[in-house]
Amino acid sequence: YSLLSHNTFGMDVHAKRFVEYESEEELCAFLRQKNTPLPLLPVGSGSNLLFLDDFSGTVLHSAIQGIRVVRENEEEVEVCVGSGVVWDEFVAYAVSHGWYGAENLSLIPGEVGASAVQNIGAYGVEVKDLITKVDTLCIATGEHRRFSNAECRYAYRQSVFKREMKGCYIVTKVFFRLSKKPVWHLDYGNIRAELEKAHEELTLETLRAVIIRIRKAKLPDPVEVGNAGSFFMNPVIPLAQYEALCVSYPDMPHYPAGEGKVKVPAGWLIDRCGWKGKKQGKVGVHDKQALVLVNLGGATGEEVRCLAEDVADSVKEKFGIVIVPEVNYI
Ligand code: EPU
Repeated sequence: YSLLSHNTFGMDVHAKRFVEYESEEELCAFLRQKNTPLPLLPVGSGSNLLFLDDFSGTVLHSAIQGIRVVRENEEEVEVCVGSGVVWDEFVAYAVSHGWYGAENLSLIPGEVGASAVQNIGAYGVEVKDLITKVDTLCIATGEHRRFSNAECRYAYRQSVFKREMKGCYIVTKVFFRLSKKPVWHLDYGNIRAELEKAHEELTLETLRAVIIRIRKAKLPDPVEVGNAGSFFMNPVIPLAQYEALCVSYPDMPHYPAGEGKVKVPAGWLIDRCGWKGKKQGKVGVHDKQALVLVNLGGATGEEVRCLAEDVADSVKEKFGIVIVPEVNYI
């Protein structure tokens, strides 16, 4: 089964089998069968994956749809969303209903199930701030398990589903709490400046439009050029290391990251190593955002991995900082 249309990097690889399910019941029945090629790999839109080779197991895809209000009062609404709903369609739905909270996460690729695994984030908002609970099925038994937000153990691009319980559960539904009263997050980067430039009143719709414009200006469209968004996570370093680096690099952007720690943008570090717009065979570093590696056409996963290693090595050498892929290697 070709996975070409199931990974945004555009890797031309195959899986033994591909299974799509439309309900928890269908997934449960599938998990209880015994004749499936293993391992199992749940994917959403494949926007955070790098296939290094053909996959000898079964790729699973959720087609569980639906956005349903489960609780509502004058202040807020709680909605239950199927894991197969396209993330940005959910954001558009929330914006059109006047529900605040998800608009800064406009245009992030992928589906709702993966958003809860990956704790997607952008422009000062992380999805963990909106999630109340996550419904899953246990891969080993097919049993239903509901995780509270606390049980998901969210951190920057991290959750229990990527760490302690990696490969154990498949997300079927995600519950989000959104506000009916304005809650704006406008302090990240150039959001305010772009809003002012647009000379428009601040509304959910105009903020969504601005976020979409900012993203489109920096991030390549996977339909045109294969990529998986940010390739690396932004490293968190000790304050003392940051202060030492500041002597040589006083303009290094940085964000507070808890007591005695500072987060620095990997994109800036990579840019400063001279990688922006560089090509290496069929792969390259995006010319508008150095954090994004691109498939220039017909590249293999190994070629991307080699470039990623070269990039990480040069950041280590120049700044003494280790950067780690955000993209999952399969
Ligand atoms: N920068 C450079 N050169 C570059 C790229 C960035 O100098 O080539 C500088 C920028 O000028 C800015 C800073 O680095 O001062 C941060 O850049 P940006 O605001 O573009 O954000 P980022 O840290 O590169 C993160 C997320 C993105 C998310 C944006 C906006 C990670 C790994 N990435 O990127 O998420 O959209 O913030 O919130 O945390 C993704 O995960 O796929 C993704 C795109």
